[in-house]
Amino acid sequence: MSESAKIIIDGKTYEFPVITGSEGEKGIDISELRKQTGYITLDPGYGNTGCCKSSITFVDGEKGILRYRGIPIEQLAEHSTFVETAYILIHGSLPNEKELTNIRVMLNDNSLIHEDMQIFFQNFPRSSSPMGILSAMVNTLRSFYPELMDSEEDIELTFLRLLSKARTMAAMSYKISKGHKVVYPRPDYTYCANFLNMMFDSPVKPYIIDEDLVEALNTFWILHADHEQNCSTAAVKVVGSGKVNIYASISAGIAALWGQLHGGANQAVIMMLSDILKNGGSVDQVISRAKDRNDAFRLMGFGHRVYKTYDPRAKIMKSTCDRLLSKFNIDDPLVDIAKKLEEVALKDAYFIDHNLYPNIDFYSGIVLRVLGIPTNMFTVMFAIGRLPGWIAQWKESIDDPDWKISRPRQIYTGPNENNYIPILKRK
Ligand code: CMC
Repeated sequence: MSESAKIIIDGKTYEFPVITGSEGEKGIDISELRKQTGYITLDPGYGNTGCCKSSITFVDGEKGILRYRGIPIEQLAEHSTFVETAYILIHGSLPNEKELTNIRVMLNDNSLIHEDMQIFFQNFPRSSSPMGILSAMVNTLRSFYPELMDSEEDIELTFLRLLSKARTMAAMSYKISKGHKVVYPRPDYTYCANFLNMMFDSPVKPYIIDEDLVEALNTFWILHADHEQNCSTAAVKVVGSGKVNIYASISAGIAALWGQLHGGANQAVIMMLSDILKNGGSVDQVISRAKDRNDAFRLMGFGHRVYKTYDPRAKIMKSTCDRLLSKFNIDDPLVDIAKKLEEVALKDAYFIDHNLYPNIDFYSGIVLRVLGIPTNMFTVMFAIGRLPGWIAQWKESIDDPDWKISRPRQIYTGPNENNYIPILKRK
């Protein structure tokens, strides 16, 4: 007999089915709740609300587990590439050699941006946030490359266009913001090497590809590739549920990621560490502020809605960071502050009681600094990495026969019915 949950409302018992996931996690299917009882649920921030069944990514926040399509993140970070990981997320299984070659060829073939688009990049104020530019330009892709969704091949082409062009656009916006000549993608470079080359090659200083940096970028993007129903993915799906095109949906996801409680945290961590350095290097003040209930300040790069232990991505990021710093013999004072901050926070009762551990963003900024990425582009790096997840989750939701337009309800707390008063009669 299938499991069910009983809910008693006003003395009457209602029964709802219990849904069990493949890793044993359970949810009560309340889709008939309002119809049967007249009640809705209230769950601000959706911490207890499942919006779908999904077979893409598994997270166990208590045990610190993250798997894409069942494969542990540690194995992907060690053995895979970002392109292969994107394939796994979008298609559901490991590609064979022919499939992998095919996706590489298509990424190369679709890496250029329509030349007419350059004028938009050139007309943003130089001080514009690259996140705003990326969100706007991804939306604009729809005008230049009308979405093709009539066959499996068309859908694949649209996905690969997005993956390939978002990377080119991010590098293009950087070059144009500096007033430099745009560097075009090269067919002989891999996805990650190409990005670094488009960012840093210059007619007066050719960029030399360093395989350790390419590997670090692969790791960085693999770690960011998906994280089930997070804020930006939910945004992609909510917007997509209205049956808008995929470019607009992903553009909304990029906007959602921008915030400092979400993807913007990687930039906020570096600002926080730099402020500590400027103020003499002591971490005590920020620790006290983070613990003060009357202060809105939060320790950036700490805490997570799902992880109540060390974020498994943060562990990998930390070792990538250590590897790079030792290879390039870099003595970064921000690293010393980050390590001190982590050490103090992990021993502090407030952080222990609140289960606050470093998240992926705590060390990622330092890795990006070693790659040479400017701080205002950190969140753009997260966005490029999250593209495969957004695409896979969008595809899964539009393919789901039970998928409906997202339309939450509310408990209304405003005034009861009252009459309109003509302006001359108002007090
Ligand atoms: N510093 C100090 N206190 C914190 C922090 C923090 N970073 N994070 C949570 N808390 C406290 C919070 O004040 C609250 O305390 P109390 O119960 O005493 O009022 C308690 O922990 C629970 O906080 P919450 O806001 O209800 O937790 P949440 O699950 O809604 O928030 C979070 C998750 C990530 C938004 C939050 O931990 C945070 O603001 N962290 C800093 C920003 C950050 O690093 N974000 C990146 C997240 S990982 C990358 C990504 O997925 O985007």
